Amino acid sequence: MSEMTAALNDHLSLEYAAWHDYSAMAVWLERHDLPGFATFMKAQAAEELAHANRIVDYLLERDLEPVLPAICRPRGDYASVLEVFQEVLTAERKVSASIHGLYKLAEKQDDQPARIMLEWFVNEQVEEENMARAVIGRLKLAGETGPGLLLVDQEMASGMVPGVSEGPPA
Ligand SMILES: [Fe+2]
Ligand SMILES: [Fe+2]
Repeated sequence: MSEMTAALNDHLSLEYAAWHDYSAMAVWLERHDLPGFATFMKAQAAEELAHANRIVDYLLERDLEPVLPAICRPRGDYASVLEVFQEVLTAERKVSASIHGLYKLAEKQDDQPARIMLEWFVNEQVEEENMARAVIGRLKLAGETGPGLLLVDQEMASGMVPGVSEGPPA
């Protein structure tokens, strides 16, 4: 297996972990009577699975071997909604760093199809980090409990938060 293929397979574990973690977060949000946040997080989880599939499909198209990773049990319990989104931001930054490393490797190896495929992810990660930051900002403004939290939950449902209006991938 080439270095590029191995690196893309390594990256898959981050996308599947995000899908799994965000699914667990959606369950937690639903159980805490926050349907706006829960619906948003379910769509976010679906996006992560689509990201993993995008890389798997790319490898298949180039007759390279995708290797699906083992995934760890998600955390599933959080102190607050703010903590959930801080964890999302941390995860997204980790994904961005991994994508940037892959992009550099594609450049170094003059692997143009990989580089062009990865460009989509570079842009996507700018949006993902912006979304997490925007939600954290709204939560800090509104407060983490009571009416403020209900207000942000409604905003999440109505797509008023930057990066949240795009909805799931086409
Ligand atoms: Fe992703
Ligand atoms: Fe993401």
